Amino acid sequence: MTDTTSTTTSEAGSQGLRHRHLLGLKTYSSDEIALILQTARQFRDVLDRPIKRVPTLRGVTVVNLFFEPSTRTRISFELAEKRLSADTVNFTASGSSVSKGETLKDTAQNIEAMKIDMVVVRHVSPGAPHFLTQCVDAVVVNAGDGAHEHPTQALLDMLTITDHCGPLEGLNVSIIGDILHSRVARSGIHGLLSMGANVTICGPNPLLPPHLEAMSPNGSVRVTHRLDEALEGADVAMALRIQMERQGRNLFPSTREYHEQYGIKLEHLERHKDLRVMHPGPVNRGVELASEVVDHERAVILNQVTNGVAVRMAVLYLLSGTTAPASE
Ligand code: CP
Repeated sequence: MTDTTSTTTSEAGSQGLRHRHLLGLKTYSSDEIALILQTARQFRDVLDRPIKRVPTLRGVTVVNLFFEPSTRTRISFELAEKRLSADTVNFTASGSSVSKGETLKDTAQNIEAMKIDMVVVRHVSPGAPHFLTQCVDAVVVNAGDGAHEHPTQALLDMLTITDHCGPLEGLNVSIIGDILHSRVARSGIHGLLSMGANVTICGPNPLLPPHLEAMSPNGSVRVTHRLDEALEGADVAMALRIQMERQGRNLFPSTREYHEQYGIKLEHLERHKDLRVMHPGPVNRGVELASEVVDHERAVILNQVTNGVAVRMAVLYLLSGTTAPASE
């Protein structure tokens, strides 16, 4: 592949991304995912330079529409846009005219009327990014829609796994916890299976999706309710946050009992010497992960966050369709 810092976005786009938007990973091919990861690795080199900026998206305006709280995704998209020299506008629902009843469609169309090129959207409703593609001409990037998909999280997770464990094909990745409410799990399963990894999901029955076949084409995801089984032979344990805000009812007796049965503790790291621990954040310390595990050298949680900027640069770059030179 050509060097991202010395080619044009139209050349890179013509190499592989068949999609105009990034709504989810379900429809992205392994070639497209590999292209994004490879491009992200090149942008990581830019981020290691003293001046962490390229002119790739100069003249492109990106609006970040966040209707749900976010720390990592919102800041890393904004940083990615700034590193690419795009003009960025940040919108959060609180303090906007959404509080006066303005709809998503009207909000987006009014913002687009100010001449924007790309929209990054996080929304509580599954399908909101797809709906936006029908309302605006701008390129739409999903930054998390309800319990549906969080594709850039899955991409940064896959980049982090390859950094620490090598090529994804044949690796064993166990996703543990609140799979039912997790857009991270959904995108992760699509991406990991597409790239040839073996995926196990693990959690108490009420936190596993009732229609596993929808997440598991050909029954290719292994399911277990026992943490020990999930960790046996795993290269990566990806713990998920218990999403109290999406549950609306108690799906397990207490967080203390959850931690006892499904929390990853030091004893697990001692027993599984090569195991890497991941978490998309924010972590409930002492619930999904013992606090010492969060800070352990084999927890790669902050590496995931670092990779988020490069992955989002790659996604914006490959979808932008600009023909501006990527570097001077
Ligand atoms: N991983 C993730 O989506 O974190 P934020 O909610 O802070 O963006």
